[in-house]
Amino acid sequence: MAITAPKGTRDILPEESYKWVYLEEEIRCLCSLYRYEEIRTPMFEKTELFVRGVGQETDIVQKEMYTFEHRDKESFSLKPEGTAAVVRAYGENKLYTLPQPVKLYYLTPCFRAERPQKGRYRQFHQFGIEVLGTKSAGIDAEVIALAARLFKQLKIENIKLYINSVGCGKCREAYYHTLKTFLATKLDVLCEDCQKRYEKNPMRVLDCKEETCQAALQEAPYMVDYLCEECEEHFAEVKENLQLMQVAYEINPRIVRGLDYYEKTAFEFVTEDIGAQGTICGGGRYDGLSELIGGPKTPGIGFGMGLERLLMLVGDKLPAKKAALQIYIASMGRQAEKKAQEMVEQLRAQGICAEKDFMQRSLKSQMKYADKLGAENVLILGDEEINAGTAEIKNMQTGEQCRVSIKTTEQFVADYKAGVKKA
Ligand code: HAM
Repeated sequence: MAITAPKGTRDILPEESYKWVYLEEEIRCLCSLYRYEEIRTPMFEKTELFVRGVGQETDIVQKEMYTFEHRDKESFSLKPEGTAAVVRAYGENKLYTLPQPVKLYYLTPCFRAERPQKGRYRQFHQFGIEVLGTKSAGIDAEVIALAARLFKQLKIENIKLYINSVGCGKCREAYYHTLKTFLATKLDVLCEDCQKRYEKNPMRVLDCKEETCQAALQEAPYMVDYLCEECEEHFAEVKENLQLMQVAYEINPRIVRGLDYYEKTAFEFVTEDIGAQGTICGGGRYDGLSELIGGPKTPGIGFGMGLERLLMLVGDKLPAKKAALQIYIASMGRQAEKKAQEMVEQLRAQGICAEKDFMQRSLKSQMKYADKLGAENVLILGDEEINAGTAEIKNMQTGEQCRVSIKTTEQFVADYKAGVKKA
Protein backbone atom coordinates (compact mmCIF):
# COMPACT_ATOMS: atom_id res chain seq x y z
CA MET A 1 0.00 0.00 0.00
CA ALA A 2 1.30 3.44 -0.89
CA ILE A 3 2.52 5.47 2.07
CA THR A 4 0.36 8.51 2.78
CA ALA A 5 1.03 11.73 4.67
CA PRO A 6 0.41 11.64 8.44
CA LYS A 7 -3.16 12.41 9.51
CA GLY A 8 -3.73 16.11 10.09
CA THR A 9 -0.90 17.23 7.81
CA ARG A 10 -1.23 18.43 4.25
CA ASP A 11 0.89 18.96 1.20
CA ILE A 12 0.89 22.49 -0.11
CA LEU A 13 0.94 22.01 -3.86
CA PRO A 14 2.00 24.55 -6.52
CA GLU A 15 -1.62 25.50 -7.20
CA GLU A 16 -1.73 26.79 -3.61
CA SER A 17 1.86 27.45 -2.60
CA TYR A 18 2.04 30.69 -4.57
CA LYS A 19 -0.77 32.00 -2.34
CA TRP A 20 1.35 31.24 0.70
CA VAL A 21 4.25 33.12 -0.80
CA TYR A 22 1.96 36.07 -1.54
CA LEU A 23 0.56 36.10 2.00
CA GLU A 24 3.98 35.75 3.57
CA GLU A 25 5.27 38.67 1.52
CA GLU A 26 2.31 40.83 2.56
CA ILE A 27 3.00 39.92 6.18
CA ARG A 28 6.71 40.65 5.95
CA CYS A 29 6.04 44.04 4.33
CA LEU A 30 3.51 44.97 6.97
CA CYS A 31 5.84 43.92 9.80
CA SER A 32 8.62 46.04 8.43
CA LEU A 33 6.20 48.99 8.17
CA TYR A 34 5.52 48.62 11.91
CA ARG A 35 9.23 47.96 12.53
CA TYR A 36 8.96 44.35 13.66
CA GLU A 37 11.94 42.10 12.92
CA GLU A 38 11.91 38.41 12.18
CA ILE A 39 12.95 35.79 14.71
CA ARG A 40 13.37 32.09 13.93
CA THR A 41 13.46 29.63 16.80
CA PRO A 42 14.01 25.83 16.66
CA MET A 43 11.22 23.46 15.62
CA PHE A 44 11.61 21.63 18.93
CA GLU A 45 12.37 22.74 22.45
CA LYS A 46 12.87 21.14 25.83
CA THR A 47 9.45 19.87 26.90
CA GLU A 48 9.83 21.72 30.19
CA LEU A 49 9.60 25.05 28.34
CA PHE A 50 6.02 24.37 27.28
CA VAL A 51 5.02 22.63 30.49
CA ARG A 52 6.06 25.67 32.50
CA GLY A 53 5.27 28.31 29.89
CA VAL A 54 2.01 27.21 28.28
CA GLY A 55 0.85 25.50 31.48
CA GLN A 56 0.79 21.96 32.88
CA GLU A 57 -3.01 21.85 32.92
CA THR A 58 -3.71 23.20 29.42
CA ASP A 59 -5.07 20.95 26.67
CA ILE A 60 -1.93 21.69 24.66
CA VAL A 61 0.39 20.23 27.30
CA GLN A 62 -1.97 17.54 28.57
CA LYS A 63 -3.05 16.09 25.25
CA GLU A 64 -1.57 17.72 22.20
CA MET A 65 2.21 17.84 22.26
CA TYR A 66 4.45 15.69 20.09
CA THR A 67 7.00 14.69 22.69
CA PHE A 68 10.00 12.44 22.25
CA GLU A 69 12.98 11.39 24.26
CA HIS A 70 16.51 11.81 23.07
CA ARG A 71 19.03 9.01 23.61
CA ASP A 72 20.18 10.56 26.87
CA LYS A 73 16.53 10.55 27.96
CA GLU A 74 16.08 14.30 27.77
CA SER A 75 12.50 15.13 26.72
CA PHE A 76 11.82 17.39 23.75
CA SER A 77 8.59 18.55 22.10
CA LEU A 78 7.77 19.93 18.68
CA LYS A 79 6.64 23.51 19.17
CA PRO A 80 2.88 23.68 19.69
CA GLU A 81 3.02 27.51 19.55
CA GLY A 82 5.57 30.27 19.13
CA THR A 83 5.46 32.48 22.22
CA ALA A 84 7.31 30.40 24.82
CA ALA A 85 10.28 29.85 22.48
CA VAL A 86 10.52 33.56 21.59
CA VAL A 87 10.47 34.52 25.26
CA ARG A 88 13.15 31.91 25.97
CA ALA A 89 15.26 33.25 23.09
CA TYR A 90 14.85 36.83 24.35
CA GLY A 91 16.36 35.91 27.73
CA GLU A 92 18.94 33.43 26.47
CA ASN A 93 20.30 35.83 23.83
CA LYS A 94 20.14 38.84 26.16
CA LEU A 95 17.85 40.79 23.89
CA TYR A 96 17.00 42.83 26.99
CA THR A 97 20.31 44.65 26.43
CA LEU A 98 18.88 46.14 23.19
CA PRO A 99 16.80 49.32 23.20
CA GLN A 100 13.32 48.30 24.42
CA PRO A 101 10.76 47.28 23.44
CA VAL A 102 11.98 44.48 21.18
CA LYS A 103 9.41 43.95 18.44
CA LEU A 104 9.54 40.52 16.81
CA TYR A 105 7.56 38.48 14.31
CA TYR A 106 7.69 34.90 13.05
CA LEU A 107 6.22 32.61 10.45
CA THR A 108 6.46 29.05 11.67
CA PRO A 109 4.93 25.59 11.51
CA CYS A 110 3.39 24.47 14.83
CA PHE A 111 2.40 20.98 15.89
CA ARG A 112 -0.59 19.90 17.95
CA ALA A 113 -2.03 16.38 18.11
CA GLU A 114 -5.63 17.59 17.85
CA ARG A 115 -8.55 15.82 16.20
CA PRO A 116 -8.19 17.05 12.61
CA GLN A 117 -11.10 18.83 10.97
CA LYS A 118 -11.65 21.73 8.59
CA GLY A 119 -9.33 24.50 9.74
CA ARG A 120 -7.70 22.32 12.39
CA TYR A 121 -4.53 20.44 11.60
CA ARG A 122 -1.76 18.62 13.42
CA GLN A 123 0.85 20.61 11.56
CA PHE A 124 -0.31 24.15 10.94
CA HIS A 125 1.37 27.49 10.43
CA GLN A 126 1.33 30.63 12.50
CA PHE A 127 2.19 34.21 11.79
CA GLY A 128 3.05 35.57 15.22
CA ILE A 129 4.06 38.83 16.81
CA GLU A 130 5.74 39.24 20.19
CA VAL A 131 6.72 42.54 21.80
CA LEU A 132 8.94 42.25 24.84
CA GLY A 133 10.06 44.81 27.36
CA THR A 134 7.09 47.11 27.91
CA LYS A 135 3.88 47.12 29.92
CA SER A 136 2.54 50.09 27.97
CA ALA A 137 -1.10 49.70 26.95
CA GLY A 138 -0.15 51.55 23.78
CA ILE A 139 1.75 48.51 22.55
CA ASP A 140 -1.24 46.25 23.24
CA ALA A 141 -3.21 48.47 20.89
CA GLU A 142 -0.39 48.51 18.31
CA VAL A 143 -0.17 44.70 18.25
CA ILE A 144 -3.93 44.45 17.75
CA ALA A 145 -3.88 47.24 15.15
CA LEU A 146 -1.24 45.39 13.14
CA ALA A 147 -3.46 42.31 12.89
CA ALA A 148 -6.46 44.48 12.01
CA ARG A 149 -4.44 46.25 9.31
CA LEU A 150 -3.47 42.92 7.74
CA PHE A 151 -7.14 41.93 7.55
CA LYS A 152 -7.96 45.30 6.02
CA GLN A 153 -5.18 44.96 3.43
CA LEU A 154 -6.45 41.52 2.52
CA LYS A 155 -9.97 42.94 2.22
CA ILE A 156 -11.37 40.63 4.88
CA GLU A 157 -14.62 42.12 6.09
CA ASN A 158 -16.59 39.66 8.17
CA ILE A 159 -14.23 39.53 11.09
CA LYS A 160 -14.78 40.72 14.64
CA LEU A 161 -12.26 41.71 17.24
CA TYR A 162 -13.16 40.65 20.78
CA ILE A 163 -11.14 41.97 23.68
CA ASN A 164 -11.14 41.20 27.37
CA SER A 165 -8.97 41.53 30.43
CA VAL A 166 -8.13 38.32 32.27
CA GLY A 167 -6.62 40.25 35.19
CA CYS A 168 -3.43 39.41 37.02
CA GLY A 169 -2.40 37.05 39.84
CA LYS A 170 -3.62 39.55 42.41
CA CYS A 171 -7.18 40.15 41.21
CA ARG A 172 -7.65 36.61 39.96
CA GLU A 173 -7.46 35.16 43.45
CA ALA A 174 -10.58 36.96 44.65
CA TYR A 175 -12.35 36.32 41.35
CA TYR A 176 -11.55 32.60 41.40
CA HIS A 177 -13.17 32.37 44.78
CA THR A 178 -16.40 33.98 43.49
CA LEU A 179 -16.30 31.98 40.24
CA LYS A 180 -15.77 28.68 42.04
CA THR A 181 -18.62 29.40 44.42
CA PHE A 182 -20.82 29.95 41.36
CA LEU A 183 -19.50 26.89 39.51
CA ALA A 184 -19.97 24.67 42.54
CA THR A 185 -23.73 25.08 42.10
CA LYS A 186 -23.46 23.86 38.45
CA LEU A 187 -20.93 21.08 38.80
CA ASP A 188 -23.40 18.28 38.08
CA VAL A 189 -24.25 19.71 34.64
CA LEU A 190 -20.74 20.65 33.55
CA CYS A 191 -18.88 18.36 31.14
CA GLU A 192 -16.11 16.08 32.33
CA ASP A 193 -13.35 18.44 31.13
CA CYS A 194 -14.96 21.38 32.93
CA GLN A 195 -15.19 19.42 36.16
CA LYS A 196 -11.42 19.07 35.98
CA ARG A 197 -11.01 22.71 34.99
CA TYR A 198 -13.09 23.71 38.00
CA GLU A 199 -10.29 22.47 40.25
CA LYS A 200 -7.20 23.49 38.28
CA ASN A 201 -8.15 26.51 36.16
CA PRO A 202 -11.78 27.56 36.69
CA MET A 203 -11.63 30.48 34.25
CA ARG A 204 -11.21 28.05 31.34
CA VAL A 205 -14.69 26.73 32.04
CA LEU A 206 -16.02 29.97 30.53
CA ASP A 207 -14.35 29.06 27.24
CA CYS A 208 -15.97 25.60 26.96
CA LYS A 209 -17.78 25.03 23.67
CA GLU A 210 -20.17 22.37 25.08
CA GLU A 211 -23.75 23.59 24.85
CA THR A 212 -24.74 22.32 28.30
CA CYS A 213 -21.79 24.17 29.85
CA GLN A 214 -22.60 27.33 27.93
CA ALA A 215 -26.19 27.17 29.14
CA ALA A 216 -25.10 26.67 32.74
CA LEU A 217 -22.79 29.67 32.55
CA GLN A 218 -25.36 32.30 31.60
CA GLU A 219 -25.12 34.02 34.96
CA ALA A 220 -21.42 33.37 35.63
CA PRO A 221 -19.39 36.19 37.15
CA TYR A 222 -16.77 37.64 34.77
CA MET A 223 -13.17 38.63 35.44
CA VAL A 224 -13.63 42.11 33.97
CA ASP A 225 -15.94 42.95 36.86
CA TYR A 226 -13.32 41.96 39.44
CA LEU A 227 -10.19 43.66 38.10
CA CYS A 228 -7.75 45.28 40.54
CA GLU A 229 -7.03 48.96 40.09
CA GLU A 230 -3.91 48.40 38.00
CA CYS A 231 -5.61 45.96 35.62
CA GLU A 232 -8.71 48.11 35.37
CA GLU A 233 -6.61 51.13 34.44
CA HIS A 234 -4.58 49.13 31.93
CA PHE A 235 -7.72 47.80 30.26
CA ALA A 236 -9.19 51.31 30.06
CA GLU A 237 -5.97 52.50 28.40
CA VAL A 238 -5.98 49.64 25.89
CA LYS A 239 -9.54 50.57 24.89
CA GLU A 240 -8.64 54.24 24.63
CA ASN A 241 -5.60 53.46 22.48
CA LEU A 242 -7.64 51.22 20.20
CA GLN A 243 -10.04 54.09 19.70
CA LEU A 244 -7.14 56.45 18.95
CA MET A 245 -5.92 53.99 16.35
CA GLN A 246 -9.45 53.57 14.98
CA VAL A 247 -9.58 49.86 15.58
CA ALA A 248 -13.15 48.65 16.11
CA TYR A 249 -13.60 46.15 18.96
CA GLU A 250 -16.21 44.50 21.10
CA ILE A 251 -15.68 43.60 24.74
CA ASN A 252 -16.29 39.91 25.27
CA PRO A 253 -15.85 38.81 28.89
CA ARG A 254 -15.82 35.15 27.82
CA ILE A 255 -12.52 35.40 25.94
CA VAL A 256 -10.14 33.62 28.30
CA ARG A 257 -7.75 31.88 25.84
CA GLY A 258 -6.47 28.33 26.13
CA LEU A 259 -2.95 29.01 27.35
CA ASP A 260 -2.08 29.77 30.97
CA TYR A 261 0.41 32.60 30.51
CA TYR A 262 -2.06 35.40 29.83
CA GLU A 263 -2.52 38.39 32.10
CA LYS A 264 -4.54 41.55 31.53
CA THR A 265 -5.28 41.94 27.80
CA ALA A 266 -6.68 38.94 25.91
CA PHE A 267 -8.13 39.17 22.41
CA GLU A 268 -9.37 37.17 19.45
CA PHE A 269 -10.29 37.92 15.85
CA VAL A 270 -13.19 35.66 14.90
CA THR A 271 -15.10 35.08 11.67
CA GLU A 272 -18.18 33.02 10.88
CA ASP A 273 -17.13 32.55 7.26
CA ILE A 274 -14.97 29.43 7.56
CA GLY A 275 -16.98 27.08 9.78
CA ALA A 276 -16.47 25.96 13.36
CA GLN A 277 -12.78 26.87 13.58
CA GLY A 278 -13.42 30.58 13.17
CA THR A 279 -10.71 32.02 15.40
CA ILE A 280 -8.19 33.41 12.96
CA CYS A 281 -6.00 35.12 15.47
CA GLY A 282 -5.60 35.02 19.24
CA GLY A 283 -3.29 36.75 21.61
CA GLY A 284 -2.73 38.73 24.73
CA ARG A 285 -0.35 39.97 27.38
CA TYR A 286 1.97 37.63 29.31
CA ASP A 287 3.92 39.72 31.81
CA GLY A 288 4.86 36.74 34.01
CA LEU A 289 5.93 34.26 31.32
CA SER A 290 9.63 35.12 31.13
CA GLU A 291 10.13 34.65 34.88
CA LEU A 292 8.06 31.48 34.81
CA ILE A 293 10.59 29.87 32.47
CA GLY A 294 13.56 31.12 34.46
CA GLY A 295 14.29 34.23 32.40
CA PRO A 296 14.49 37.90 33.37
CA LYS A 297 11.36 39.68 34.56
CA THR A 298 10.02 41.00 31.26
CA PRO A 299 6.53 42.03 30.24
CA GLY A 300 5.29 40.92 26.84
CA ILE A 301 2.34 40.83 24.48
CA GLY A 302 1.66 39.18 21.14
CA PHE A 303 -0.64 37.15 18.95
CA GLY A 304 -0.66 34.01 16.83
CA MET A 305 -2.57 33.90 13.55
CA GLY A 306 -3.38 30.62 11.82
CA LEU A 307 -2.25 30.88 8.21
CA GLU A 308 -4.40 27.95 7.00
CA ARG A 309 -7.48 29.70 8.37
CA LEU A 310 -6.39 33.03 6.93
CA LEU A 311 -5.97 31.40 3.52
CA MET A 312 -9.39 29.78 3.76
CA LEU A 313 -10.74 33.31 4.15
CA VAL A 314 -8.80 35.06 1.42
CA GLY A 315 -7.54 32.32 -0.89
CA ASP A 316 -9.85 33.11 -3.78
CA LYS A 317 -9.34 36.86 -3.54
CA LEU A 318 -5.59 36.70 -4.03
CA PRO A 319 -4.15 37.70 -7.40
CA ALA A 320 -3.73 34.79 -9.82
CA LYS A 321 -0.38 33.13 -10.17
CA LYS A 322 1.41 34.42 -13.25
CA ALA A 323 5.12 34.38 -13.40
CA ALA A 324 5.00 35.14 -17.13
CA LEU A 325 6.82 32.70 -19.35
CA GLN A 326 8.40 35.11 -21.81
CA ILE A 327 9.94 32.74 -24.33
CA TYR A 328 9.28 29.10 -25.08
CA ILE A 329 11.84 27.58 -27.41
CA ALA A 330 10.32 24.92 -29.65
CA SER A 331 12.81 22.75 -31.48
CA MET A 332 12.89 20.05 -34.14
CA GLY A 333 15.88 17.76 -34.57
CA ARG A 334 18.96 17.07 -32.47
CA GLN A 335 20.93 20.20 -33.52
CA ALA A 336 18.05 22.48 -32.76
CA GLU A 337 17.42 20.84 -29.40
CA LYS A 338 21.05 21.38 -28.42
CA LYS A 339 20.76 25.04 -29.43
CA ALA A 340 17.55 25.32 -27.38
CA GLN A 341 19.25 23.80 -24.33
CA GLU A 342 22.08 26.34 -24.64
CA MET A 343 19.85 29.35 -25.32
CA VAL A 344 17.31 28.68 -22.61
CA GLU A 345 19.99 28.93 -19.94
CA GLN A 346 21.60 32.02 -21.51
CA LEU A 347 18.21 33.75 -21.59
CA ARG A 348 17.68 33.01 -17.91
CA ALA A 349 21.14 34.41 -17.21
CA GLN A 350 19.80 37.67 -18.64
CA GLY A 351 16.71 37.57 -16.47
CA ILE A 352 14.36 36.37 -19.21
CA CYS A 353 11.97 33.61 -18.16
CA ALA A 354 12.44 30.83 -20.72
CA GLU A 355 11.41 27.18 -21.11
CA LYS A 356 11.92 24.30 -23.55
CA ASP A 357 10.61 20.78 -24.14
CA PHE A 358 11.94 17.83 -22.18
CA MET A 359 9.48 15.20 -23.38
CA GLN A 360 10.49 14.71 -27.05
CA ARG A 361 7.22 16.25 -28.17
CA SER A 362 6.47 16.84 -31.83
CA LEU A 363 6.53 20.48 -32.99
CA LYS A 364 2.74 20.55 -32.99
CA SER A 365 2.57 19.28 -29.39
CA GLN A 366 5.26 21.72 -28.35
CA MET A 367 3.13 24.58 -29.68
CA LYS A 368 0.15 23.28 -27.70
CA TYR A 369 2.28 22.84 -24.60
CA ALA A 370 3.65 26.41 -24.93
CA ASP A 371 0.08 27.63 -25.13
CA LYS A 372 -0.86 25.71 -21.98
CA LEU A 373 2.08 27.23 -20.14
CA GLY A 374 0.85 30.67 -21.18
CA ALA A 375 4.04 31.45 -23.11
CA GLU A 376 4.12 35.01 -24.43
CA ASN A 377 6.38 34.13 -27.36
CA VAL A 378 7.54 30.94 -29.03
CA LEU A 379 10.87 30.76 -30.85
CA ILE A 380 10.86 27.98 -33.45
CA LEU A 381 14.17 26.26 -34.14
CA GLY A 382 15.00 23.61 -36.77
CA ASP A 383 18.09 22.62 -38.74
CA GLU A 384 17.32 25.23 -41.39
CA GLU A 385 17.19 28.02 -38.82
CA ILE A 386 20.43 26.89 -37.21
CA ASN A 387 22.16 27.02 -40.62
CA ALA A 388 20.65 30.38 -41.54
CA GLY A 389 21.35 31.96 -38.14
CA THR A 390 17.84 33.41 -38.00
CA ALA A 391 14.50 32.05 -36.79
CA GLU A 392 10.84 32.96 -36.44
CA ILE A 393 9.48 34.10 -33.13
CA LYS A 394 5.73 34.12 -32.67
CA ASN A 395 3.76 36.36 -30.34
CA MET A 396 1.19 33.94 -28.96
CA GLN A 397 -1.35 36.63 -28.21
CA THR A 398 -1.42 38.48 -31.50
CA GLY A 399 -0.20 35.61 -33.68
CA GLU A 400 2.34 38.00 -35.24
CA GLN A 401 5.64 36.49 -36.29
CA CYS A 402 8.96 38.13 -36.95
CA ARG A 403 12.45 37.04 -37.85
CA VAL A 404 15.22 37.36 -35.31
CA SER A 405 18.89 36.55 -35.21
CA ILE A 406 19.94 33.44 -33.30
CA LYS A 407 23.64 33.61 -34.11
CA THR A 408 24.37 34.65 -30.55
CA THR A 409 21.99 34.94 -27.62
CA GLU A 410 23.00 38.63 -27.25
CA GLN A 411 21.89 39.35 -30.81
CA PHE A 412 18.72 37.39 -30.25
CA VAL A 413 17.92 39.29 -27.04
CA ALA A 414 18.55 42.63 -28.78
CA ASP A 415 16.13 41.67 -31.61
CA TYR A 416 13.63 40.27 -29.13
CA LYS A 417 13.67 43.41 -27.03
CA ALA A 418 13.50 45.73 -30.02
CA GLY A 419 10.78 43.98 -31.94
CA VAL A 420 8.83 41.11 -30.59
CA LYS A 421 8.25 42.34 -27.11
CA LYS A 422 6.58 45.50 -28.34
CA ALA A 423 4.55 43.71 -31.01
P1 HAM B 1 -3.57 29.99 19.98
O1 HAM B 1 -4.88 30.63 20.18
O2 HAM B 1 -3.36 28.66 20.58
O3 HAM B 1 -2.50 31.01 20.53
O4 HAM B 1 -3.26 29.89 18.43
C1 HAM B 1 -3.28 31.04 17.62
C2 HAM B 1 -3.96 30.74 16.29
O5 HAM B 1 -3.36 29.62 15.65
C3 HAM B 1 -5.42 30.33 16.42
O6 HAM B 1 -6.25 31.47 16.54
C4 HAM B 1 -5.65 29.61 15.11
O7 HAM B 1 -5.89 30.53 14.05
C5 HAM B 1 -4.31 28.94 14.87
N1 HAM B 1 -4.38 27.52 15.28
C6 HAM B 1 -4.25 27.02 16.52
N2 HAM B 1 -4.33 25.68 16.50
C7 HAM B 1 -4.52 25.31 15.22
C8 HAM B 1 -4.68 24.06 14.53
N3 HAM B 1 -4.64 22.90 15.18
N4 HAM B 1 -4.86 24.09 13.19
C9 HAM B 1 -4.89 25.25 12.51
N5 HAM B 1 -4.73 26.46 13.10
C10 HAM B 1 -4.55 26.49 14.44
C11 HAM B 1 -1.16 30.80 20.51
O8 HAM B 1 -0.62 29.91 19.92
C12 HAM B 1 -0.40 31.89 21.20
N6 HAM B 1 1.04 31.56 21.14
C13 HAM B 1 -0.67 33.24 20.60
C14 HAM B 1 0.09 34.33 21.24
C15 HAM B 1 1.23 34.90 20.80
N7 HAM B 1 -0.21 34.91 22.38
C16 HAM B 1 0.69 35.83 22.65
N8 HAM B 1 1.59 35.82 21.71
